[in-house]
Amino acid sequence: MKAGLLGIGKFVPPTIVTNADLEKRIDTSDEWIRTRTGIQERRIADETIDTSDMAYEAAKDALEAANIRPDQLGLILVATVTPDYTFPSVATMVQERLGATGAAAMDISAACAGFIYGIVTAKQFVEAGTYDYVLVIGVEKLSKIVNWEDRNTAVLFGDGAGAAVVGKVSEGRGILSFELGADGSGGKHLHRKEFIEMNGREVFKFAVRQMGETAVSVAEKAGLTKDDVDYLVPHQANIRIMEASRERLGLPTEKMSSTVHKYGNTSAASIPISLSDDLAEGRVKDDDIIVLVGFGGGLTWGGLCIKWGK
Ligand code: UT7
Repeated sequence: MKAGLLGIGKFVPPTIVTNADLEKRIDTSDEWIRTRTGIQERRIADETIDTSDMAYEAAKDALEAANIRPDQLGLILVATVTPDYTFPSVATMVQERLGATGAAAMDISAACAGFIYGIVTAKQFVEAGTYDYVLVIGVEKLSKIVNWEDRNTAVLFGDGAGAAVVGKVSEGRGILSFELGADGSGGKHLHRKEFIEMNGREVFKFAVRQMGETAVSVAEKAGLTKDDVDYLVPHQANIRIMEASRERLGLPTEKMSSTVHKYGNTSAASIPISLSDDLAEGRVKDDDIIVLVGFGGGLTWGGLCIKWGK
């Protein structure tokens, strides 16, 4: 039996920052942001909400959706580049708040591809029989590492958390294939010293190529063709990058998860947040073949092909 995603959860902070709000602070325009990125607004966590708080809320939501108790978890993995502290990890903070006393816990650093890296790691432990249930969280409070004076980056990012419980699913369903990759030579294009610094055009070119290739590649690794794919959940970085990967799979617009307009780019959280909304709004059904694909700083990338359902 394969590992699959038993339940998905999310948390986004309540404060909405619109493009019009940003127009008042920096030299930008709603029109520029919408046409270049597809973003209309993003959620920003205030000083009372840190990364671990959002991670905890998304985790509770995912456990409830999966109908799993915290004491059943063997491992908690948190993908983030914006932890509350260098240590303790966000994963250990969530472990304590959940009361998941039997779970090991660690953070994963793979930037926006972190959630995919986390799910693939969880899958190994579940299919090896080491742990019955692994909680994977993608969470970012990017607002604390964005330079709000830099229009090249300030308009792009948002805060939030998404989570999934990974465990065994019924015959034929689950994670059919995956791909993980990295190219450290591209690390200079997207990095953080004090703030996020990015060569947007270089990241854009890499993302369009890699997202499309990885989406097709995971379908093929599952013994399928791109025509078998029912739904695509791409990392919500920029609508133009997302559309390029959708076109590569030959899917119509409504068969792609798209929440970048309301949450911006939430890095490691974007895929589970978007999938959570898809499930809540009935866009993903049992036995659908879905492809999840992400890329990020590192550079890193990853993809999953899943036959949906428990
Ligand atoms: O999770 C991974 C994170 N990173 C990404 O996903 C980023 C990938 N890259 C992108 O999404 C795009 O490259 C951007 C959205 C960042 C930029 O779009 P672009 O079409 O590549 O624009 P550009 O960099 O070619 O810039 C065009 C112009 C520049 O002006 P000049 O030099 O042509 O006069 C920029 O200075 O747009 C200017 N510009 C802005 N103007 C208004 C850059 N940012 C802004 C802004 N408002 N916020």
